[in-house]
Amino acid sequence: MPIWHIRPYETVDYAATVRLLEEVRSTPGGPPINLTDTVLALRHEGPDAESPAVVAVAGEHIVGAAVGRKEGGQGRVLTVAIAPAWRHHGIGSGLLQSVENQLLHAGCRRITTLITPGQTDEEAFLHRGFAATGQVLYDKEIPLRPADVSTVERWGGALLSTSEWSNLAGMTEERALIEQRLLLPVRERELAEAYGVVIPTAMLLFGPPGTGKTSFARAVAARLEWPFVELLPSRLASGATGLASELRSAIHDLMGVERVVVFIDEVDEIAQSRETRPENQSVVNELLKAIPAFRGVAGRLLICATNAVSALDPAFVRPGRFDLVLPVGPPDATGRRVLLAGLLERVANKEEIDLDAVVAATDLFTPADLSAVVQRSAAAAFHRAADSTRAALTSGSGLASLSLAGTSGADEAGKPDSDAAGPHGGTPATPTTPLRTEDLLEAARAARPTISLTELDRFRRDAQAFTRI
Ligand SMILES: Nc1ncnc2c1ncn2[C@@H]1O[C@H](COP(=O)(O)OP(=O)(O)OP(=O)(O)O)[C@@H](O)[C@H]1O
Ligand SMILES: [Mg+2]
Repeated sequence: MPIWHIRPYETVDYAATVRLLEEVRSTPGGPPINLTDTVLALRHEGPDAESPAVVAVAGEHIVGAAVGRKEGGQGRVLTVAIAPAWRHHGIGSGLLQSVENQLLHAGCRRITTLITPGQTDEEAFLHRGFAATGQVLYDKEIPLRPADVSTVERWGGALLSTSEWSNLAGMTEERALIEQRLLLPVRERELAEAYGVVIPTAMLLFGPPGTGKTSFARAVAARLEWPFVELLPSRLASGATGLASELRSAIHDLMGVERVVVFIDEVDEIAQSRETRPENQSVVNELLKAIPAFRGVAGRLLICATNAVSALDPAFVRPGRFDLVLPVGPPDATGRRVLLAGLLERVANKEEIDLDAVVAATDLFTPADLSAVVQRSAAAAFHRAADSTRAALTSGSGLASLSLAGTSGADEAGKPDSDAAGPHGGTPATPTTPLRTEDLLEAARAARPTISLTELDRFRRDAQAFTRI
Protein backbone atom coordinates (compact mmCIF):
# COMPACT_ATOMS: atom_id res chain seq x y z
CA MET A 1 0.00 0.00 0.00
CA PRO A 2 1.60 3.31 -1.01
CA ILE A 3 2.04 5.76 1.82
CA TRP A 4 0.10 8.99 2.03
CA HIS A 5 0.95 12.43 3.28
CA ILE A 6 -0.90 15.62 4.00
CA ARG A 7 -0.04 18.97 2.45
CA PRO A 8 -1.78 22.34 2.05
CA TYR A 9 -4.33 22.58 -0.76
CA GLU A 10 -3.11 24.45 -3.84
CA THR A 11 -5.24 25.97 -6.60
CA VAL A 12 -4.02 23.32 -9.09
CA ASP A 13 -5.73 20.72 -6.86
CA TYR A 14 -9.15 22.25 -7.54
CA ALA A 15 -10.46 19.82 -10.19
CA ALA A 16 -9.16 16.68 -8.45
CA THR A 17 -10.53 17.85 -5.10
CA VAL A 18 -13.99 18.58 -6.45
CA ARG A 19 -14.00 15.16 -8.18
CA LEU A 20 -13.11 13.55 -4.88
CA LEU A 21 -15.88 15.46 -3.05
CA GLU A 22 -18.39 14.32 -5.64
CA GLU A 23 -17.25 10.73 -5.42
CA VAL A 24 -17.39 10.73 -1.61
CA ARG A 25 -20.78 12.44 -1.57
CA SER A 26 -22.31 9.82 -3.83
CA THR A 27 -20.90 6.87 -1.84
CA PRO A 28 -23.54 5.20 0.36
CA GLY A 29 -23.03 6.20 4.00
CA GLY A 30 -20.68 9.00 2.96
CA PRO A 31 -20.69 12.32 4.79
CA PRO A 32 -23.34 14.86 3.71
CA ILE A 33 -20.95 17.23 1.96
CA ASN A 34 -22.22 20.71 1.30
CA LEU A 35 -20.56 20.98 -2.07
CA THR A 36 -21.52 24.60 -2.66
CA ASP A 37 -20.04 25.86 0.62
CA THR A 38 -16.88 23.86 0.22
CA VAL A 39 -16.33 24.70 -3.41
CA LEU A 40 -16.90 28.37 -2.69
CA ALA A 41 -14.36 28.25 0.11
CA LEU A 42 -11.84 26.61 -2.20
CA ARG A 43 -12.43 28.82 -5.19
CA HIS A 44 -13.18 32.33 -3.99
CA GLU A 45 -11.50 32.69 -0.66
CA GLY A 46 -8.69 30.33 -1.53
CA PRO A 47 -6.77 28.69 1.24
CA ASP A 48 -5.59 31.31 3.72
CA ALA A 49 -5.22 31.49 7.48
CA GLU A 50 -8.97 31.92 7.95
CA SER A 51 -10.10 29.25 5.53
CA PRO A 52 -7.54 26.46 5.70
CA ALA A 53 -7.72 23.61 3.23
CA VAL A 54 -5.50 20.54 3.13
CA VAL A 55 -5.33 17.44 0.97
CA ALA A 56 -4.06 13.91 1.54
CA VAL A 57 -1.95 12.66 -1.32
CA ALA A 58 -0.96 9.10 -2.20
CA GLY A 59 1.40 8.86 -5.14
CA GLU A 60 -0.04 11.39 -7.57
CA HIS A 61 -3.62 11.07 -6.38
CA ILE A 62 -5.61 13.21 -4.02
CA VAL A 63 -7.26 10.70 -1.71
CA GLY A 64 -8.56 13.03 0.97
CA ALA A 65 -9.39 16.67 1.57
CA ALA A 66 -10.50 18.81 4.47
CA VAL A 67 -11.68 22.40 4.48
CA GLY A 68 -12.29 24.67 7.45
CA ARG A 69 -13.35 28.25 7.98
CA LYS A 70 -13.08 30.82 10.73
CA GLU A 71 -16.49 32.23 11.46
CA GLY A 72 -16.83 34.97 14.06
CA GLY A 73 -14.03 33.77 16.32
CA GLN A 74 -15.02 30.12 16.04
CA GLY A 75 -13.68 27.54 13.69
CA ARG A 76 -15.88 25.32 11.58
CA VAL A 77 -14.84 22.19 9.74
CA LEU A 78 -16.82 22.31 6.53
CA THR A 79 -15.71 19.04 5.01
CA VAL A 80 -13.59 15.99 5.62
CA ALA A 81 -13.68 13.70 2.60
CA ILE A 82 -11.73 10.49 2.14
CA ALA A 83 -11.78 8.32 -0.98
CA PRO A 84 -13.67 5.10 -0.13
CA ALA A 85 -10.64 2.89 -0.80
CA TRP A 86 -8.58 4.93 1.66
CA ARG A 87 -10.84 4.80 4.70
CA HIS A 88 -9.46 3.39 7.97
CA HIS A 89 -5.89 4.50 7.30
CA GLY A 90 -5.90 7.37 9.79
CA ILE A 91 -6.22 9.92 6.97
CA GLY A 92 -9.34 11.54 8.48
CA SER A 93 -7.59 12.22 11.79
CA GLY A 94 -4.52 13.52 9.99
CA LEU A 95 -6.56 15.92 7.86
CA LEU A 96 -8.51 17.13 10.86
CA GLN A 97 -5.37 17.66 12.92
CA SER A 98 -3.94 19.83 10.18
CA VAL A 99 -7.09 21.94 9.78
CA GLU A 100 -7.44 22.27 13.57
CA ASN A 101 -3.86 23.51 13.87
CA GLN A 102 -4.43 26.16 11.26
CA LEU A 103 -7.70 27.29 12.85
CA LEU A 104 -5.93 27.45 16.19
CA HIS A 105 -3.25 29.67 14.64
CA ALA A 106 -6.03 31.85 13.23
CA GLY A 107 -7.20 32.40 16.83
CA CYS A 108 -10.07 29.88 17.16
CA ARG A 109 -10.42 27.97 20.40
CA ARG A 110 -13.68 26.25 19.71
CA ILE A 111 -14.19 24.23 16.59
CA THR A 112 -17.52 22.85 15.48
CA THR A 113 -18.73 20.66 12.70
CA LEU A 114 -22.05 19.35 11.52
CA ILE A 115 -22.12 15.62 11.05
CA THR A 116 -24.67 12.87 11.21
CA PRO A 117 -23.93 10.31 13.93
CA GLY A 118 -22.75 7.12 12.26
CA GLN A 119 -21.49 8.78 9.10
CA THR A 120 -18.23 7.40 7.76
CA ASP A 121 -15.84 10.02 9.09
CA GLU A 122 -17.44 10.35 12.55
CA GLU A 123 -14.66 8.14 13.89
CA ALA A 124 -12.01 10.66 12.84
CA PHE A 125 -13.82 13.45 14.72
CA LEU A 126 -14.22 11.33 17.85
CA HIS A 127 -10.58 10.31 17.60
CA ARG A 128 -9.55 13.96 17.53
CA GLY A 129 -11.54 14.68 20.71
CA PHE A 130 -14.75 16.13 19.24
CA ALA A 131 -17.89 15.44 21.26
CA ALA A 132 -21.51 15.41 20.16
CA THR A 133 -23.44 18.34 21.58
CA GLY A 134 -26.83 17.52 20.14
CA GLN A 135 -28.24 15.76 17.18
CA VAL A 136 -25.74 16.70 14.57
CA LEU A 137 -23.43 19.31 16.06
CA TYR A 138 -20.03 18.08 17.21
CA ASP A 139 -17.61 20.46 18.85
CA LYS A 140 -14.23 20.59 20.45
CA GLU A 141 -12.64 23.17 22.68
CA ILE A 142 -8.95 23.40 21.99
CA PRO A 143 -7.22 23.20 25.35
CA LEU A 144 -4.76 25.93 24.48
CA ARG A 145 -5.30 29.66 24.36
CA PRO A 146 -4.23 31.08 21.02
CA ALA A 147 -1.79 33.31 22.92
CA ASP A 148 -0.15 30.22 24.46
CA VAL A 149 0.53 28.58 21.11
CA SER A 150 3.69 30.56 20.45
CA THR A 151 5.09 29.94 23.94
CA VAL A 152 4.53 26.21 23.62
CA GLU A 153 6.03 26.19 20.12
CA ARG A 154 9.01 28.30 21.20
CA TRP A 155 10.02 25.53 23.60
CA GLY A 156 9.38 22.83 21.01
CA GLY A 157 6.05 21.63 22.46
CA ALA A 158 2.80 20.53 20.82
CA LEU A 159 -0.65 19.17 21.53
CA LEU A 160 -0.50 15.40 21.14
CA SER A 161 -3.12 13.13 19.67
CA THR A 162 -5.27 11.37 22.29
CA SER A 163 -4.33 8.09 20.59
CA GLU A 164 -0.96 8.24 22.37
CA TRP A 165 -2.86 7.32 25.52
CA SER A 166 -5.10 4.67 23.96
CA ASN A 167 -2.20 3.11 22.04
CA LEU A 168 -0.09 2.70 25.15
CA ALA A 169 0.08 -1.05 25.65
CA GLY A 170 0.01 -2.69 29.07
CA MET A 171 0.86 -0.42 32.03
CA THR A 172 -2.64 -1.04 33.40
CA GLU A 173 -1.79 -0.18 37.00
CA GLU A 174 0.07 2.98 36.07
CA ARG A 175 -2.80 4.10 33.87
CA ALA A 176 -5.40 3.43 36.56
CA LEU A 177 -3.30 5.45 38.98
CA ILE A 178 -3.16 8.40 36.58
CA GLU A 179 -6.92 8.23 36.04
CA GLN A 180 -7.58 8.23 39.79
CA ARG A 181 -4.94 10.59 41.11
CA LEU A 182 -4.70 13.05 38.27
CA LEU A 183 -7.56 13.02 35.81
CA LEU A 184 -10.46 12.62 38.18
CA PRO A 185 -9.46 15.48 40.53
CA VAL A 186 -8.56 17.69 37.54
CA ARG A 187 -12.00 17.08 36.11
CA GLU A 188 -13.81 17.32 39.46
CA ARG A 189 -11.65 20.10 40.80
CA GLU A 190 -14.23 21.68 43.12
CA LEU A 191 -15.24 18.38 44.65
CA ALA A 192 -11.60 17.39 45.09
CA GLU A 193 -10.86 20.70 46.77
CA ALA A 194 -13.85 20.26 49.09
CA TYR A 195 -12.17 17.10 50.36
CA GLY A 196 -8.76 18.72 50.52
CA VAL A 197 -7.46 16.40 47.80
CA VAL A 198 -4.20 17.76 46.44
CA ILE A 199 -3.80 17.38 42.69
CA PRO A 200 -0.34 16.06 41.80
CA THR A 201 1.81 18.62 40.02
CA ALA A 202 5.15 16.83 39.88
CA MET A 203 5.87 13.24 38.97
CA LEU A 204 9.14 11.32 38.71
CA LEU A 205 9.38 8.21 36.55
CA PHE A 206 12.34 5.90 36.97
CA GLY A 207 13.37 2.64 35.40
CA PRO A 208 15.82 0.98 33.01
CA PRO A 209 16.29 2.29 29.46
CA GLY A 210 13.57 1.61 26.90
CA THR A 211 10.85 0.66 29.37
CA GLY A 212 8.47 3.38 28.23
CA LYS A 213 9.01 6.36 30.53
CA THR A 214 8.93 8.90 27.71
CA SER A 215 5.98 7.16 26.07
CA PHE A 216 4.11 7.23 29.38
CA ALA A 217 4.82 10.93 29.97
CA ARG A 218 3.56 11.76 26.48
CA ALA A 219 0.51 9.55 26.99
CA VAL A 220 -0.39 11.40 30.20
CA ALA A 221 -0.23 14.75 28.37
CA ALA A 222 -2.34 13.28 25.57
CA ARG A 223 -4.91 12.02 28.07
CA LEU A 224 -5.09 15.37 29.84
CA GLU A 225 -5.23 17.10 26.45
CA TRP A 226 -2.57 19.52 27.66
CA PRO A 227 0.31 20.49 25.39
CA PHE A 228 3.49 18.50 25.93
CA VAL A 229 6.81 20.32 26.13
CA GLU A 230 10.02 18.33 26.46
CA LEU A 231 12.91 20.38 27.77
CA LEU A 232 16.13 18.91 26.48
CA PRO A 233 19.07 19.66 28.77
CA SER A 234 21.48 19.53 25.81
CA ARG A 235 19.47 22.19 23.98
CA LEU A 236 19.11 24.36 27.07
CA ALA A 237 22.85 24.07 27.73
CA SER A 238 23.62 25.34 24.24
CA GLY A 239 21.43 28.43 24.82
CA ALA A 240 23.02 31.86 25.13
CA THR A 241 22.91 32.05 28.92
CA GLY A 242 23.77 28.51 30.01
CA LEU A 243 21.78 25.60 31.35
CA ALA A 244 20.59 26.94 34.73
CA SER A 245 19.50 30.27 33.36
CA GLU A 246 17.83 28.80 30.23
CA LEU A 247 15.98 26.38 32.47
CA ARG A 248 14.79 29.29 34.61
CA SER A 249 13.45 31.20 31.60
CA ALA A 250 11.80 28.09 30.14
CA ILE A 251 9.97 27.41 33.41
CA HIS A 252 9.06 31.07 33.79
CA ASP A 253 7.65 31.23 30.23
CA LEU A 254 5.76 27.96 30.52
CA MET A 255 4.22 28.98 33.84
CA GLY A 256 2.35 31.57 31.79
CA VAL A 257 0.65 28.87 29.71
CA GLU A 258 -2.82 27.95 30.96
CA ARG A 259 -2.25 24.18 30.96
CA VAL A 260 0.93 22.33 30.19
CA VAL A 261 2.93 19.17 30.83
CA VAL A 262 6.66 19.90 31.03
CA PHE A 263 8.87 16.85 30.62
CA ILE A 264 12.56 16.56 31.47
CA ASP A 265 14.05 13.24 30.35
CA GLU A 266 17.26 11.79 31.77
CA VAL A 267 17.06 14.29 34.58
CA ASP A 268 19.96 12.51 36.33
CA GLU A 269 22.28 14.12 33.79
CA ILE A 270 21.55 17.52 35.26
CA ALA A 271 20.40 16.69 38.77
CA GLN A 272 23.07 14.33 40.01
CA SER A 273 24.00 14.63 43.60
CA ARG A 274 25.69 17.98 44.26
CA GLU A 275 28.26 16.11 46.35
CA THR A 276 29.50 14.03 43.43
CA ARG A 277 28.97 16.75 40.83
CA PRO A 278 29.43 20.13 42.56
CA GLU A 279 29.28 21.87 39.16
CA ASN A 280 25.60 20.91 39.02
CA GLN A 281 24.78 23.05 42.04
CA SER A 282 23.03 25.87 40.18
CA VAL A 283 21.02 23.54 37.94
CA VAL A 284 19.83 21.40 40.85
CA ASN A 285 18.84 24.58 42.69
CA GLU A 286 16.89 25.74 39.65
CA LEU A 287 15.05 22.43 39.41
CA LEU A 288 14.31 22.45 43.13
CA LYS A 289 12.78 25.90 42.73
CA ALA A 290 10.76 24.80 39.70
CA ILE A 291 8.83 22.13 41.61
CA PRO A 292 7.07 24.50 44.05
CA ALA A 293 6.44 26.89 41.14
CA PHE A 294 4.36 24.16 39.53
CA ARG A 295 2.55 23.51 42.79
CA GLY A 296 1.27 27.05 43.09
CA VAL A 297 -0.91 27.00 39.96
CA ALA A 298 -3.55 24.66 38.62
CA GLY A 299 -3.13 23.11 35.19
CA ARG A 300 0.62 22.44 35.27
CA LEU A 301 2.39 19.13 35.53
CA LEU A 302 6.13 18.56 35.67
CA ILE A 303 7.29 15.07 34.76
CA CYS A 304 10.92 14.05 35.15
CA ALA A 305 12.35 10.70 34.07
CA THR A 306 15.57 8.94 34.94
CA ASN A 307 17.40 5.64 34.52
CA ALA A 308 19.37 6.25 37.70
CA VAL A 309 17.08 7.38 40.51
CA SER A 310 19.66 6.60 43.19
CA ALA A 311 22.16 8.98 41.59
CA LEU A 312 19.82 11.96 41.92
CA ASP A 313 20.53 14.64 44.45
CA PRO A 314 18.84 13.49 47.69
CA ALA A 315 16.99 16.80 48.01
CA PHE A 316 15.29 16.02 44.74
CA VAL A 317 13.68 12.77 45.87
CA ARG A 318 12.84 13.88 49.40
CA PRO A 319 9.11 13.72 50.33
CA GLY A 320 7.37 16.97 49.50
CA ARG A 321 9.05 17.39 46.12
CA PHE A 322 7.45 14.87 43.75
CA ASP A 323 3.85 13.90 44.53
CA LEU A 324 4.25 10.68 42.58
CA VAL A 325 7.41 8.63 42.12
CA LEU A 326 6.67 5.70 39.84
CA PRO A 327 8.84 2.77 38.80
CA VAL A 328 8.53 1.83 35.13
CA GLY A 329 9.96 -1.64 34.68
CA PRO A 330 10.02 -4.20 31.88
CA PRO A 331 6.52 -5.36 30.95
CA ASP A 332 5.15 -8.57 32.43
CA ALA A 333 3.85 -11.43 30.24
CA THR A 334 0.46 -9.76 29.74
CA GLY A 335 2.09 -6.47 28.79
CA ARG A 336 4.47 -8.21 26.36
CA ARG A 337 1.57 -10.02 24.74
CA VAL A 338 -0.29 -6.74 24.12
CA LEU A 339 2.85 -5.02 22.88
CA LEU A 340 3.74 -7.88 20.52
CA ALA A 341 0.21 -8.10 19.18
CA GLY A 342 0.28 -4.34 18.49
CA LEU A 343 3.68 -4.49 16.78
CA LEU A 344 2.65 -7.50 14.68
CA GLU A 345 -0.51 -5.76 13.49
CA ARG A 346 1.71 -3.73 11.19
CA VAL A 347 3.02 -6.88 9.48
CA ALA A 348 0.40 -7.88 6.92
CA ASN A 349 2.13 -10.96 5.53
CA LYS A 350 2.42 -13.36 8.46
CA GLU A 351 1.34 -16.85 9.42
CA GLU A 352 -0.69 -17.37 12.59
CA ILE A 353 1.83 -16.44 15.26
CA ASP A 354 2.14 -18.50 18.43
CA LEU A 355 2.15 -15.50 20.76
CA ASP A 356 2.48 -17.65 23.91
CA ALA A 357 5.80 -19.00 22.64
CA VAL A 358 7.12 -15.54 21.77
CA VAL A 359 5.95 -14.08 25.10
CA ALA A 360 7.72 -16.92 26.94
CA ALA A 361 10.93 -16.32 24.97
CA THR A 362 11.06 -12.61 25.75
CA ASP A 363 11.18 -12.43 29.52
CA LEU A 364 12.82 -9.14 30.65
CA PHE A 365 12.52 -7.63 27.17
CA THR A 366 11.56 -3.95 27.19
CA PRO A 367 9.09 -2.47 24.67
CA ALA A 368 12.13 -1.17 22.76
CA ASP A 369 13.66 -4.70 22.73
CA LEU A 370 10.36 -6.22 21.55
CA SER A 371 10.12 -3.68 18.77
CA ALA A 372 13.67 -4.62 17.68
CA VAL A 373 12.76 -8.34 17.69
CA VAL A 374 9.73 -7.76 15.48
CA GLN A 375 11.78 -5.54 13.15
CA ARG A 376 14.59 -8.06 12.89
CA SER A 377 12.25 -10.97 12.18
CA ALA A 378 10.27 -8.91 9.66
CA ALA A 379 13.55 -8.08 7.92
CA ALA A 380 14.42 -11.81 7.81
CA ALA A 381 11.04 -12.66 6.24
CA PHE A 382 11.43 -9.78 3.80
CA HIS A 383 14.88 -10.94 2.70
CA ARG A 384 13.52 -14.43 2.18
CA ALA A 385 10.76 -12.98 0.01
CA ALA A 386 13.21 -10.84 -1.97
CA ASP A 387 15.48 -13.87 -2.51
CA SER A 388 12.60 -16.04 -3.73
CA THR A 389 11.43 -13.26 -6.09
CA ARG A 390 14.92 -13.02 -7.57
CA ALA A 391 15.17 -16.84 -7.82
CA ALA A 392 11.77 -17.04 -9.53
CA LEU A 393 12.69 -14.37 -12.05
CA THR A 394 16.12 -15.76 -12.88
CA SER A 395 14.75 -19.29 -13.28
CA GLY A 396 12.44 -17.89 -15.95
CA SER A 397 9.26 -18.86 -14.20
CA GLY A 398 8.38 -15.20 -13.73
CA LEU A 399 5.56 -14.75 -11.32
CA ALA A 400 4.58 -18.38 -11.47
CA SER A 401 5.82 -19.03 -7.96
CA LEU A 402 4.28 -15.94 -6.46
CA SER A 403 0.83 -15.17 -5.30
CA LEU A 404 -0.81 -12.39 -3.38
CA ALA A 405 -0.65 -12.31 0.40
CA GLY A 406 -4.07 -12.92 1.86
CA THR A 407 -5.28 -14.71 -1.26
CA SER A 408 -2.88 -17.58 -0.95
CA GLY A 409 -4.65 -20.54 0.57
CA ALA A 410 -2.41 -23.61 0.99
CA ASP A 411 -3.86 -25.26 -2.10
CA GLU A 412 -3.40 -22.10 -4.13
CA ALA A 413 0.22 -21.39 -3.22
CA GLY A 414 2.44 -21.54 -6.24
CA LYS A 415 -0.28 -20.83 -8.75
CA PRO A 416 -0.03 -17.65 -10.77
CA ASP A 417 -2.39 -14.89 -9.83
CA SER A 418 -3.03 -13.27 -13.13
CA ASP A 419 -5.74 -10.95 -11.87
CA ALA A 420 -4.13 -8.81 -9.27
CA ALA A 421 -0.44 -9.54 -9.18
CA GLY A 422 2.28 -8.58 -11.55
CA PRO A 423 3.09 -5.68 -13.79
CA HIS A 424 -0.47 -5.20 -15.08
CA GLY A 425 -2.26 -5.36 -11.73
CA GLY A 426 -2.74 -2.27 -9.55
CA THR A 427 -1.18 -3.90 -6.50
CA PRO A 428 2.38 -5.19 -6.42
CA ALA A 429 2.82 -8.93 -5.88
CA THR A 430 3.81 -10.12 -2.43
CA PRO A 431 5.51 -13.49 -2.37
CA THR A 432 4.15 -16.16 -0.05
CA THR A 433 6.99 -16.11 2.44
CA PRO A 434 5.15 -14.89 5.50
CA LEU A 435 6.68 -13.92 8.81
CA ARG A 436 6.74 -17.07 10.96
CA THR A 437 6.75 -17.70 14.68
CA GLU A 438 10.21 -19.22 14.22
CA ASP A 439 11.50 -15.90 12.79
CA LEU A 440 10.41 -14.16 15.98
CA LEU A 441 11.86 -16.84 18.23
CA GLU A 442 15.15 -16.73 16.37
CA ALA A 443 15.31 -12.93 16.60
CA ALA A 444 14.53 -13.20 20.33
CA ARG A 445 17.34 -15.72 20.82
CA ALA A 446 19.79 -13.52 18.93
CA ALA A 447 18.83 -10.39 20.88
CA ARG A 448 20.30 -9.48 24.19
CA PRO A 449 17.66 -7.79 26.39
CA THR A 450 18.69 -4.32 27.55
CA ILE A 451 18.05 -5.27 31.16
CA SER A 452 20.33 -7.82 32.80
CA LEU A 453 19.33 -9.75 35.90
CA THR A 454 21.67 -7.56 37.97
CA GLU A 455 19.98 -4.44 36.64
CA LEU A 456 16.58 -5.92 37.34
CA ASP A 457 17.68 -6.60 40.88
CA ARG A 458 18.84 -2.99 41.28
CA PHE A 459 15.59 -1.71 39.78
CA ARG A 460 13.56 -3.76 42.27
CA ARG A 461 15.58 -2.40 45.17
CA ASP A 462 15.11 1.16 43.86
CA ALA A 463 11.39 0.51 43.48
CA GLN A 464 11.21 -0.45 47.15
CA ALA A 465 13.23 2.52 48.29
CA PHE A 466 11.82 5.32 46.13
CA THR A 467 8.28 4.54 44.94
CA ARG A 468 5.69 6.99 46.21
CA ILE A 469 2.10 6.82 45.06
N1 LIG B 1 3.55 0.85 26.80
C1 LIG B 1 4.01 0.95 25.54
N2 LIG B 1 3.21 0.68 24.50
C2 LIG B 1 3.65 0.76 23.24
N3 LIG B 1 4.91 1.09 22.91
C3 LIG B 1 5.75 1.38 23.89
C4 LIG B 1 5.36 1.34 25.26
N4 LIG B 1 6.41 1.67 26.02
C5 LIG B 1 7.41 1.91 25.18
N5 LIG B 1 7.04 1.73 23.90
C6 LIG B 1 7.92 1.88 22.74
O1 LIG B 1 9.23 1.44 23.12
C7 LIG B 1 10.23 2.36 22.73
C8 LIG B 1 11.01 2.89 23.94
O2 LIG B 1 10.12 3.62 24.78
P1 LIG B 1 10.53 4.97 25.52
O3 LIG B 1 11.44 5.81 24.69
O4 LIG B 1 9.28 5.57 26.03
O5 LIG B 1 11.36 4.38 26.74
P2 LIG B 1 12.17 5.18 27.86
O6 LIG B 1 11.93 4.46 29.14
O7 LIG B 1 11.81 6.61 27.82
O8 LIG B 1 13.66 4.98 27.41
P3 LIG B 1 14.95 5.82 27.87
O9 LIG B 1 15.25 5.43 29.27
O10 LIG B 1 15.98 5.33 26.90
O11 LIG B 1 14.62 7.27 27.73
C9 LIG B 1 9.52 3.43 21.94
O12 LIG B 1 9.63 3.11 20.58
C10 LIG B 1 8.08 3.34 22.37
O13 LIG B 1 7.21 3.71 21.33
MG1 LIG C 1 13.00 8.35 27.54
